Amino acid sequence: MAEPVATPTVELSGVRKDYVAGPVVTPVLHGVDLEVGAGEFTALMGPSGSGKSTLLNLIGLLDRPTAGRVRVAGLDTAALDDDAMARTRGRTIGFVFQFHHLLPAFTALENVMIPMMAARGRPAPDMAECGEHLLRQVGLGAVLHRRVTQLSGGQQQRVAIARALAMAPRLVLADEPTGNLDTHAADEVFALLREFNRRAGITFLIVTHDPRLADRCDRIVELVDGRIVADRPNPRSGA
Ligand SMILES: Nc1ncnc2c1ncn2[C@@H]1O[C@H](COP(=O)(O)OP(=O)(O)O)[C@@H](O)[C@H]1O
Ligand SMILES: [Mg+2]
Repeated sequence: MAEPVATPTVELSGVRKDYVAGPVVTPVLHGVDLEVGAGEFTALMGPSGSGKSTLLNLIGLLDRPTAGRVRVAGLDTAALDDDAMARTRGRTIGFVFQFHHLLPAFTALENVMIPMMAARGRPAPDMAECGEHLLRQVGLGAVLHRRVTQLSGGQQQRVAIARALAMAPRLVLADEPTGNLDTHAADEVFALLREFNRRAGITFLIVTHDPRLADRCDRIVELVDGRIVADRPNPRSGA
């Protein structure tokens, strides 16, 4: 669908989220307004339990708000049924998590090809080419055919980044992508995310607890108790 260039990649207005389990209602987000423009590289910070992952799940079209509006790439999720939401998610959004969730029995290349095979229903030669290209871009050209269990933590997270980019998403949501890595590996992973942002114009929203890494983002949004309490451009990012 064609859309005006000015359409923000993410638009949340008045978003509330309650988790409901039987009689127990846990309100988590209390009216979040947030706009993320195309090509932005934004950090989402906040204490544990403040609702960061809940917010990412809503933006990632993995869940629906209790109230308020979620628009991603100009589409209002309220107008999408579950199938349409899943299709939009697959075409538009890549995910990187703290724990890589790679399939341990498979090679780096196979892990990157899995989303492409799932989308097209069967393997095709261009998928391997595309997967190899992505893995070379994340510096793993030498270990394409190695099982992911034989790779270091930093290498595994780089495979996860390549996998997140396999469907050429316009938005990548990363939930503490360096939370499980040492400083050096965290720096490398962060630099890679930034490179894809600069080179391909991909929009990134990255949850991090590390102020040093947040300081390398163009914008820092802070969530406390389900409310955005700060949202500021970061002149030091050097973007
Ligand atoms: N599926 C769920 N059911 C009930 N409560 C949940 C669920 N997921 C998260 N929560 C609660 O919502 C709050 C925010 O969680 P979360 O979004 O994971 O925060 P963060 O990512 O900032 O640590 C926490 O109190 C958490 O216990
Ligand atoms: Mg979380």
